Amino acid sequence: MKTNNSTYILAIESSCDDTGVAILHNDKVLCNVVANQEIHSQYGGVVPELASRAHQQNIVPVVAQALKQAGIDKKQLNAIAFTKGPGLMGSLLVGSSFAKSMALALDIPLIGVNHMQAHILAHFINDENQQKPPFPFLCLTISGGHTQIVKITDHFTMEVIGETIDDAVGEAFDKSAKILGLPYPGGPLVDKHAQLGNPNAYIFTKPKTKNPLDFSFSGLKTAILYFIQKQVKENSNFIEENLNDICASIQFTISTILMNKLKKAVKQTGIKHIAIAGGVSANSEIRKVLKEAENKYNWTTYIPKFEYTMDNAAMIGIVGYYKYLDEQFDDLGITASARMKF
Ligand code: KG4
Ligand code: ZN
Repeated sequence: MKTNNSTYILAIESSCDDTGVAILHNDKVLCNVVANQEIHSQYGGVVPELASRAHQQNIVPVVAQALKQAGIDKKQLNAIAFTKGPGLMGSLLVGSSFAKSMALALDIPLIGVNHMQAHILAHFINDENQQKPPFPFLCLTISGGHTQIVKITDHFTMEVIGETIDDAVGEAFDKSAKILGLPYPGGPLVDKHAQLGNPNAYIFTKPKTKNPLDFSFSGLKTAILYFIQKQVKENSNFIEENLNDICASIQFTISTILMNKLKKAVKQTGIKHIAIAGGVSANSEIRKVLKEAENKYNWTTYIPKFEYTMDNAAMIGIVGYYKYLDEQFDDLGITASARMKF
């Protein structure tokens, strides 16, 4: 393990539709720049071909902006970290090719990072607004592409003990929003309307899975679709008149499913330090029920700073930092991996 106490890492995240570049000094974030791609909202979801083109357009200016914001020269960098996978292949290729070229040009180490590991290790960014969980802990990683319960025993040892067998929880939010006529990504809008609605207005059944810690959301999406179609047949203004209650009921159902799985995971592992990660952990109801679980079940919960929950490069940088200390470097032949596992 290196003991270098001054390490600058430039990190690149390009797994989906956000081009992110961050610069870290040790475990502190100097800058965390994200260029969002507005283009996808008009298509109701991410269009992979357009995402990779936009990354290609964004990557150079975003790297330049990050260096400027951090106030450092590229010659001061000690390593380049990038998202190796999982994600959209075309998007990953832009970030990985750029990272390789930059590492080669500066003659510094290259570090490939697993995006899902990064969502979890975002908790280890040194920031006054968040607390680092102690090992071992459980992490509920909930995003537009993934839903997992992971047992973490050290920075590099992670075991998936439950995951979705079909849709991710973010997809459940986004697809429900689409049924209600809300634009993509609908998760934050469902959250907004839900805050004004009655969570018990409508009851949706919760799916069963073979492995009790696994998730399934495709049935819920279909149940919501059939329910809405039936109601709209009887009253064509049903959605407009009841939007807040529908959103609150969907959100309540999803957060109850997540909490039930977490309770089972705690029972199975005996671990009561619970973290959440991924874009969906921005959800207000999920944050609320998790906080309530501290008193109710004697858990200690770790909720990351909002900026580090969505796809961002700071989380790639923190994994880069730990890998740098451990001298886990990659050679320039490394390739992106769309379906990368831990
Ligand atoms: O982690 P993330 O930024 O990207 C992926 O790796 O997928 O997560 C994006 C997902 C989207 O599905 C979005 O609708 C959802 O996170 N999301 C939310 C909220 N904010 C973002 N879902 C529910 N409530 C929110 N407040
Ligand atoms: Zn993500």
